[in-house]
Amino acid sequence: MSYQENFQLGNLVLPNNIFYAPLAGCSDLPFRRMSLLYKPGLVFCEMVKMDALVRHDANTYRILDFEGDMHPIGGQICGSKPEIAGLSARIIEDLGFDVVDLNCGCPVDKVTKDGSGSGMLKTPELIGEIILEMRAAVKIPVTVKIRAGWDDDSIVAPLVTRIAEEAGAAAICIHGRTREQGYLGSANWDYIAACKKEAKNIKVIGNGDVFDADSAKRMFLHTGCDAVMVSRGSMGQPWIAEEIRRLYQDLPVNGKSVWDVRSALLQHLEAIQSYQNERRALLDFRRVGCFYLKKCHGVKELRCSINHAATTKEVFQLIQDFQWSDPF
Ligand SMILES: Cc1cc2nc3c(=O)[nH]c(=O)nc-3n(C[C@H](O)[C@H](O)[C@H](O)COP(=O)(O)O)c2cc1C
Repeated sequence: MSYQENFQLGNLVLPNNIFYAPLAGCSDLPFRRMSLLYKPGLVFCEMVKMDALVRHDANTYRILDFEGDMHPIGGQICGSKPEIAGLSARIIEDLGFDVVDLNCGCPVDKVTKDGSGSGMLKTPELIGEIILEMRAAVKIPVTVKIRAGWDDDSIVAPLVTRIAEEAGAAAICIHGRTREQGYLGSANWDYIAACKKEAKNIKVIGNGDVFDADSAKRMFLHTGCDAVMVSRGSMGQPWIAEEIRRLYQDLPVNGKSVWDVRSALLQHLEAIQSYQNERRALLDFRRVGCFYLKKCHGVKELRCSINHAATTKEVFQLIQDFQWSDPF
């Protein structure tokens, strides 16, 4: 497969097959506001715990905030209890999400210790059971996001692909690292290719180490996957979906100028200001600003002053007044 417009996912037609991943602590409403300017096929909220959803925890619902024009959008749930999986999926559907995804990839001890997240890779049959519960509860497409396996000695991605397909999932996203790897080393795309071979009708979404348009193309070529999910590559470069599209349309992909970065910084800051209180906005922007500035040269001083600014108004001024100079 390659880049494609009008991508069918279950009963949905998505604008294209470049998706932006759920990113805990990152893919909040302002991040998604910025992302959607560049038209990825699907964006995700950060993962939420099933337990917290069903007890109507207010902070959890805030993570799921989105605005009327923010579609198509997916919600991701994390948990290992089939008895609340259907209800959790229904809550996501009732909130207006277009897709509901099951997280089987989170490597954090706190999550895996009760068998959730990548802990689910140790019980592939349970993944099937939970998908069945979700499917029975909602009409929107149900998807699942996994890692290749717990460790190199227990690669289960092809097996889980088969189980997910049998349980009725519309797609499976495979992050080509094991839980043991965390985020170290590179993602092994052969595991994604193996899942694509195993899949009959279920869509296979490749994930891991897509940081620019070229790597997205290589991911499609190497794995034959139906769609690509960009994760860290969308942090500080919300335009990556547009660059991938341009590559496939034989248009120049020149990267962004420092002026584009400056204007995105200001726009993202505005989006955060209008969503968070002042204190939180300031803290959030320190993190966000770093991602945008990572590839820029000569911005150490700006990064430092942003981190020491006392108000977002001051941050705004710092970005405006900075002597931006090409090249990156
Ligand atoms: C800060 C951060 C937060 C993440 N949060 C989630 C999450 O909420 N749900 C999820 O399925 N994966 C999450 N992931 C994993 C990514 O979606 C993705 O699978 C992983 O980063 C590999 O892709 P990459 O190499 O392209 O970044 C997170 C990753 C990072 C770095």
